[in-house]
Amino acid sequence: RTITVNADQAGPDIASTMYGAFYEDINQGADGGIYAELVQNRSFEFNSADNRAFTPLSTWEVLQRGSAGTASVRDDGNRLNEMNRNYLQVDATTAGAGTAAGVGVRNTGWNGGHRLEARKKYDYSVWARTSNPAGSTLAVALETPEGARLALASIKVKGDAWAKYNVTLSPKSSTASGRLSTVVQGTGTVRLDMISLIPQDTWNGHGLRKDLAEKIAELNPGFLRFPGGCIVNTGSYDSYSAPNYTRSRTYQWKETIGPVEQRPANRNFWGYNQTYGLGYMEYFQWAEDLKAVPVPVVPVGVTGCGDNRAVPDQATLDKYIQDTLDLIEFANGDASTLWGAKRIAYGHPAPYNLDRISLGNEEYKPEFKAYFTQFQDAVEAAYPDIMVIGNTGPDDQGANFDDLSKFNADRNVDFVDEHYYNSPDWFLSNNHRYDSYDRDSYKVFLGEFASLANKPENALAEASFMTGLERNADVVKMASYAPLIANEANVQWSPDLMFFNGTSIRTTPNFEVQKLFMNNVGTQVVPSSQNNPVSLAKPITGQIGLSTWATAAKYDDVKVTGADGAQLFADDFSGTASAWTGNGVGTWSVQDGAYIQSSTSALNTMVTAGNTSWSNYTLSAKATKTAGA
Ligand code: AHR
Repeated sequence: RTITVNADQAGPDIASTMYGAFYEDINQGADGGIYAELVQNRSFEFNSADNRAFTPLSTWEVLQRGSAGTASVRDDGNRLNEMNRNYLQVDATTAGAGTAAGVGVRNTGWNGGHRLEARKKYDYSVWARTSNPAGSTLAVALETPEGARLALASIKVKGDAWAKYNVTLSPKSSTASGRLSTVVQGTGTVRLDMISLIPQDTWNGHGLRKDLAEKIAELNPGFLRFPGGCIVNTGSYDSYSAPNYTRSRTYQWKETIGPVEQRPANRNFWGYNQTYGLGYMEYFQWAEDLKAVPVPVVPVGVTGCGDNRAVPDQATLDKYIQDTLDLIEFANGDASTLWGAKRIAYGHPAPYNLDRISLGNEEYKPEFKAYFTQFQDAVEAAYPDIMVIGNTGPDDQGANFDDLSKFNADRNVDFVDEHYYNSPDWFLSNNHRYDSYDRDSYKVFLGEFASLANKPENALAEASFMTGLERNADVVKMASYAPLIANEANVQWSPDLMFFNGTSIRTTPNFEVQKLFMNNVGTQVVPSSQNNPVSLAKPITGQIGLSTWATAAKYDDVKVTGADGAQLFADDFSGTASAWTGNGVGTWSVQDGAYIQSSTSALNTMVTAGNTSWSNYTLSAKATKTAGA
């Protein structure tokens, strides 16, 4: 084989945004992940609507240390504010003796406890009020699970109006399983909320867990896409307001800015609670610190990811369109604008220099085209310089793709966001995917891609595929692997680029491939050719209907027959989300390079609803024969 490099020819320019990072709060990526808060359920807002295993006291232990009394969560008129409705009420009836005595609570954090490092400083804060006219004393301690004290501080709470109290704690020794206790000393009724512990040493001082943020920064992303993914466009279209305070709402950026105690919690599509401590201010700041172009994704009035809803009326749609315009003003506006002034008041005088916005994520619903059109028209009318990113729906092939691809071309969007999770063989045989794209139409934003199966050879398939992205740099302007990070205690989607627990990070071969490409982005393609291209078998695709989920006992034994008559045997499946452990829904790797993947809707129904019936889901199977097989 001869490879010819045509060094004297000028190929297309390569965009500085060629490779970026897509961050979504999946796999417990925000709370318990890159958001440096160590306290889980700090505002007692966990709820069975988030996850049926949750209660307002999840991850809290009630303490009665030499004292008598109760600690319970209340939701009444004494609350901190309308956005943060639950609080903890401690009624101490008998006072114990000693510095550790009292009635209160202890938090167990994530991943087995708080990671505490000896002599490092941790900011503790709490909102509190007391019915005791003389005031009340809180004893705050860092400790081991057995109660051995690592640091102790005392806080004097004064008055029966909510106020914030802060103290710095510094543990005398390190532990990966730290506990944070807060007890009321003496007697009386004390109300507590927003009990928080954040290390002072965060990435750039902006509230991100340092080691994780550093690892992502190693990738040198040219852009940061956020906040999703499926968390963006699922849930109801309610605002968090009276009388219902809906706990499962579409992501609304305005709920995620300003003082954290005024940001409401929301159910996360991936089956847990999101505090929004990591919100739009933090995302923009993160992009700025990475020197990456921010790429927010907003909902456009139709839900995706199996959550089959659409905005019910024009008034609601208008609200979402206005929210999108307000987001652009928030990012770029000056002090004379309503939302620009808010950004400045919240501490960021300079604009975030937003230059593009993603309208929707994987949308393919009857209402989508009409709704998208209204969003696009409104954005282009108000902000002609802002580039619009459309999308090609939940499937990278077939009717959805063709239809939306044409729609986006007709709408003359700047970019189209494509997503695909396919087998390594698919990536190998699709190196030429973009060779035939229309050079005069929209540009491609490959917002999510990964080869399935979590094996080292996947990374090589991705590397091979990425050479095809770069060769077509006149068409492909942005690409990001997905998902980016996963808390190993809550891996809901696999593969991921890196895995972490409370103390360490495990990167993957895929991470090394991304890092290699992302740190060596050229400026211009040098054309090359070879005289004997490798020939790879074409993928075989087919639909398989399974109606035996309820009775199949062991899903790693599932045997299915593809439309072409080929037999696929699941030899392994990845994904350990609690709702589906043992039920085998998700992604399998199978023999002979074939794989089977649940359809998007089935996967999401199961993950989010904790579905127990397991019946009548249609799986789509795609088999790819290895070359020569
Ligand atoms: O990256 C995981 C999920 O895959 C995203 O949330 C969604 O956009 C896609 O289906």
